[in-house]
Amino acid sequence: MTRLFSFLAILTVAAGLALPVGAQSVSPPEGAVETPDSVEPATSGATPTLEDILRRQEGLEVDQADRATLTGRATGPEEAQGPLGTLGGSSDADLWRAFRFDNREMTTQVRGPAADVIMQDRGMWWLEVREGPLITWGGWLLLGTIAVLALFYLLRGRVRIDGRKTGRRILRFTSVERFSHWLLAGSFILLALTGLLTLMGRKFLIPAFGHEAFSIVAIGSKWIHNNIAWAFIIALVMIFVQWVWHNLPDRTDVNWILKGGGLLTKGHPPAKKFNAGQKMIFWSVIVLGGSIAVSGLSLLFPFEISLFAPTFEKLNAIGAPGWVGLDPLPVALSPQAEMQYAQLWHAIVGFVLMAIIIAHIYIGSIGMEGAFDAMGEGHVEEQWAAEHHSIWYEKKRREGEVAPKGATPAE
Ligand code: HEM
Repeated sequence: MTRLFSFLAILTVAAGLALPVGAQSVSPPEGAVETPDSVEPATSGATPTLEDILRRQEGLEVDQADRATLTGRATGPEEAQGPLGTLGGSSDADLWRAFRFDNREMTTQVRGPAADVIMQDRGMWWLEVREGPLITWGGWLLLGTIAVLALFYLLRGRVRIDGRKTGRRILRFTSVERFSHWLLAGSFILLALTGLLTLMGRKFLIPAFGHEAFSIVAIGSKWIHNNIAWAFIIALVMIFVQWVWHNLPDRTDVNWILKGGGLLTKGHPPAKKFNAGQKMIFWSVIVLGGSIAVSGLSLLFPFEISLFAPTFEKLNAIGAPGWVGLDPLPVALSPQAEMQYAQLWHAIVGFVLMAIIIAHIYIGSIGMEGAFDAMGEGHVEEQWAAEHHSIWYEKKRREGEVAPKGATPAE
């Protein structure tokens, strides 16, 4: 009996020592694929070495290619038939290793570009940025903007109409213009709110209300976000077509900017239909809103639209990363990495536009007397027009478009 135990003990130790040696000699499995997000090419051995561990601690990349071949399949299909584990030749560990190292042959019947990467460990940086800095900085940007506006309101107060109101009104925006604006505004506000719920819900709503409640909110948010996006895109095109002509930069803008828009001084610099500040809002909405729309479409149709690899290639070609001390940007992106860049871009640009729009909503409502009427009813008080858009007002007056007292301007 004692001899039997000794024999078993020796066998166990020998098996333990022999396994890595035997495993090192195996060749790569048939069907192992090299994708941009696969592990690095071989430099070290099959088992984690002290060097591997030290590299990992230093945050350097560790070669795992040899280990990637250590699946049951790696010893050949015939040998994988034996009853070695619950899954025969493919034990659970083998199967998970195959997942881990993108061995499609062993893990999935699905074929296609996105199916080449099964477990994308290089996507962890994206998850960490999304859960951490994106939420923190984005959140502070919005709260900071609201705080600055509140402070501005306390110090400067409402921008009032300085002169005496005449009671006569001028048509400022037609019903089509107002419809386009409110379609844009309504859809943007819904997209912003549902986007924030999707991004921040896990962190803030699950701890407060639980998974069940958040699940309903998340499903609803996703539905609204994905469908309302079309209204935003349509409104963006309508606004662009109607207002681009009035938003081309010209000489009056230079003067307007040099005088700080008259916000901190008495009187307002001359302006046409839109002043320089409004032109900046317009172009921010078009450029940032357009970029949010395009990156949103690439998220809505996963793996169909590659935006970042071609962009990074062009930026590398002109040496742009070097200007800010960065290494060349990666150009061999897996479909998953494309989506991750698209998600971050969509959210970052979304946060910037939300901050700009919060300021716009402030100045278009409580921040300035008489401004809301332009978009609410479509017409403005003559004195407001004369003070804020003097060049535009003079033109309207010459054209006889100031309605008599008490009358509503015709479209
Ligand atoms: C409740 C929210 C909003 C209010 C109260 C509001 C108010 C206004 C007002 C009063 C104007 C006309 C200003 C003038 O007559 O000179 C205006 C213009 C404009 N709005 Fe809004 N708006 C809102 C939301 C939005 C949103 C969400 C967007 C875009 C995503 C947007 C984009 C624009 C643009 C591009 C203009 C023309 C440029 C400018 O006047 O700044 N608005 N808005």
